[in-house]
Amino acid sequence: MSRPLRLAISGATGRMGSALMSLLDGDPRFELVHAVVSPGSPHDGRPVFAGSSQPLCYAHDWSKAGSIDVVIDFSGPSALAAALDYCLAHGTPLVSGTTGIDAGLEARLDRAGQGIAVMRAANFSLGVAVLTRLLRQAAAALPDWDLEILEAHHGRKQDAPSGTALALGQAAAAARDTTLEATAVYSREGRTGERVQGSIGFAVLRGGDVVGEHTAMLLGHGERLELGHRATDRSIFARGALQAACWLSGRAPGHWHLDDVIAAPP
Ligand SMILES: NC(=O)c1ccc[n+]([C@@H]2O[C@H](COP(=O)([O-])OP(=O)(O)OC[C@H]3O[C@@H](n4cnc5c(N)ncnc54)[C@H](OP(=O)(O)O)[C@@H]3O)[C@@H](O)[C@H]2O)c1
Repeated sequence: MSRPLRLAISGATGRMGSALMSLLDGDPRFELVHAVVSPGSPHDGRPVFAGSSQPLCYAHDWSKAGSIDVVIDFSGPSALAAALDYCLAHGTPLVSGTTGIDAGLEARLDRAGQGIAVMRAANFSLGVAVLTRLLRQAAAALPDWDLEILEAHHGRKQDAPSGTALALGQAAAAARDTTLEATAVYSREGRTGERVQGSIGFAVLRGGDVVGEHTAMLLGHGERLELGHRATDRSIFARGALQAACWLSGRAPGHWHLDDVIAAPP
């Protein structure tokens, strides 16, 4: 058996970091070799109890990091910037799910693809990656059908539509040789007039403990195609990120996508 993949996790004590650690624990394919927390974290310097066969402590920086095959980052902008510095300095592939970063860091990440393998996704669910691919095919195959995207999330979610719903809309728009900017309708109220041909409508539901549901409806005359995905557990994002890390290890520099990870169609 080949040696385990040596992973570093940036944002190790966060919700996603914890989900990753739970999956790593006892999985012989992976070895956790570095676990990064924020500078003021109470965990800084404390032992890590999951995912590592060697004694390991949480650290607030990268100076003590040993040899790493892939960095997985689910943190915040400053932690991602520090992880990126490490990856660029060492030629280490980077998997990042961190959202909400500014234009300057976006530009740095764009440039990073010239030197290292980078995979970023607003949603690391493999199911959503397949849904996106299916929607692209359906939107292109049925160019005249009306397209509506529905999403539901728990009531604490701050933004709407979800980043995933927008990404689905972008994928469908691109498959129809247009853009979301040109086609999106985000709200309907009062006397809206008739539906605009070729538009992509969004509908948003909020409430309870819904982890995340997305449905793309293609509406024709006398028939309707529905493509949907329901997340019931946040660990799906961690599973997808680990699969992405396996796939990215040893890849050439560039920007890779979760769509590259799922098996190519027959
Ligand atoms: N792409 C996807 O599939 C996906 C799925 C879920 C979430 N996300 C995104 O992933 C990110 C993290 O989500 P989460 O729910 O895990 O958030 P969270 O629970 O708030 O965790 C964030 C983690 O980042 C760490 N951190 C913050 N600033 C840091 C710094 N300067 N240096 C080092 N570590 C730092 C935090 O450490 P402390 O606790 O010590 O501050 C914490 O461990 C968010 O951007 C979220 O939107 C993406």
